Amino acid sequence: MVDKEDGPMATTATDGQGSEKCPYGGNADTLIKEGSFTDPEILAHPRAFYWAMRHKDPVHFDESLGSWLITRHEDIWAVQSDPITFSVNLGYHHQQAQGFQEEFRQYLRDHGGGYFPDAIMSDPPYHTRIRNLMQAAFSAHRVKELEPRIEAAISGLIEEIADKGQCDAVDDFAVPITIRVICEQLGLDHGMAKKISRWSQAVTAQIGRMQTREQMLEHAQEICDLQNFLIAEMKDREATPREDMISDIVHAEVTLEDGTKEKLTFEATALGNMMLLLATQPDVDKMLREAADDERKLNRFVEELLRNEPPVRALSRMAVRDVEVGGVMIPKGAHMLLVYGSGNDDEKVFACPRDFDPNRPNMAHSVTFGGGPHKCIGISLARMEVKVAAREVARRLENIRLAIPESEVRYLPTVATRTLVTLPITYSRRAG
Ligand code: HEM
Repeated sequence: MVDKEDGPMATTATDGQGSEKCPYGGNADTLIKEGSFTDPEILAHPRAFYWAMRHKDPVHFDESLGSWLITRHEDIWAVQSDPITFSVNLGYHHQQAQGFQEEFRQYLRDHGGGYFPDAIMSDPPYHTRIRNLMQAAFSAHRVKELEPRIEAAISGLIEEIADKGQCDAVDDFAVPITIRVICEQLGLDHGMAKKISRWSQAVTAQIGRMQTREQMLEHAQEICDLQNFLIAEMKDREATPREDMISDIVHAEVTLEDGTKEKLTFEATALGNMMLLLATQPDVDKMLREAADDERKLNRFVEELLRNEPPVRALSRMAVRDVEVGGVMIPKGAHMLLVYGSGNDDEKVFACPRDFDPNRPNMAHSVTFGGGPHKCIGISLARMEVKVAAREVARRLENIRLAIPESEVRYLPTVATRTLVTLPITYSRRAG
């Protein structure tokens, strides 16, 4: 399968394992010299850039970003396994509202009840305590319990659009599904949908490193709104405990766990990317239909979907001392990005990484959810949500096609996630 997104740069090169069929970008030296991860073209079509980095400069300093890009699977693994040397707390909070940090924090203090550093975005030993406290809210038991409600919410939404024949797979599918799930998960009213969507985008924008001051202020206003809502909600729940996740979080005494809202976008991103694959790659669509009624096959399909098109491109760390990574000396205080998207493309780990192959023997090595002590805590919920959505799509819709030329597909300008802006599609209700 040829990865169309490598466009004119695509060449047929060896993957280092003797296979000739995997396409990789040519022009690697120019990409390294002149390219930046912030370049809109690279953000939209990052594979050739990832390839160039991994093969020519795997620990690369991106001047425009002021960050080191860690692109090989083995180096990502090494960094995420050492949370003491590579600080999430410094990496994340240093990057938040880049360029306008003090103003951002002051705005939250003035209008949003305070500036609350994200408790889970911390380092051990504090992180270990917070994580243990949060664990109950994301337990397998809680996720299992949620599944029937989430299934009803997702199938209900797909039913609503099934006869329309066309929709925007981001605004009418991925985002509302994710919001319905978050409402179920947190025990919130469905009428909150629009607000939740705006809040989620505002939180994610703070770590995307691409905001203007005006955008930062608009987003800060949304975050204040979110914080004020949560403060009121928490006071309310302290008085009347309920069997839902906000209650769990409040009772675990984790204050304002912004991470949860931010992750909302990760799931919407995953669902949007799934629809793009189904609309443009008939063999992937066929694989889903063959897997839809077989739980084991469907789980493998979802895992490969998340490996092949990971929603999170890159997340932050900061080196707390001079330290060598992949043979390169990174100075104390340097900001780094773990480029998970590239790790999942590493041909040393995944043979023909651009092939969509649910039968890969080593999918567990994917870094879609990170790894080590900061590995995604919402992993079971995320997998379940994508699985249910994939199954319900296969059961209810068919002939899914892109309604615009593929070259017009656009992504949000952020290095943190690979999120579609819109995705107009056509389809029909599945016969029978
Ligand atoms: C497809 C969806 C998702 C993807 C791709 C994803 C990906 C990730 C990744 C890559 C990390 C590692 C961060 C790092 O290394 O710095 C992470 C951490 C985290 N995720 Fe997710 N996530 C998803 C869904 C969720 C959901 C549904 C929740 C909760 C509702 C969630 C909550 C968290 C939290 C709290 C952390 C921080 C854990 C820690 O630092 O100990 N995620 N996620």
